[in-house]
Amino acid sequence: MKISYTLNGRARTDEVDPARPLTEYLRAQGCLSVKRGCETSNCGLCTVLVDGRPVLSCTTLTARINGKSVLTLEGLEDRAAEIGGYLAAQGAEQCGFCSPGLIMNIIAMTDELTDPTEDEIREYLAGNLCRCTGYVSQLRAIRQYLADRKEAEQA
Ligand code: FES
Ligand code: FES
Repeated sequence: MKISYTLNGRARTDEVDPARPLTEYLRAQGCLSVKRGCETSNCGLCTVLVDGRPVLSCTTLTARINGKSVLTLEGLEDRAAEIGGYLAAQGAEQCGFCSPGLIMNIIAMTDELTDPTEDEIREYLAGNLCRCTGYVSQLRAIRQYLADRKEAEQA
């Protein structure tokens, strides 16, 4: 199947196996930030943005990106580095395996919700599993990131 789509801002056309999992396809395109975890829609690790919305690429068929815009961390380096800094400052990056998926969802959340409440943050990020942190340090980092963003916007 021939598909046309945008990957990290660059228009592309490709001949693809439409049933190939999107995780595999994107990794084959050099997007190695897209990680494989559970491969059953349970951990959030493989999250990418399709037309701005978070999508679990492990259970998305490659055919589904036809005509869409796909963003991975490779296309969001500045924002990812900024959020990564907050996670590191709060000790929320231990093995770091969950970070790419978590950061993708934090970016999606900040684009979608202007001033999320604690409950909204927890609900939005509930699909991101972390084996190491117990989520407390991650939540501290996210709250600080959102507070600093708000302050910068109001300045
Ligand atoms: S690898 Fe896709 S949700 Fe876990
Ligand atoms: S920091 Fe290890 S899985 Fe989250």
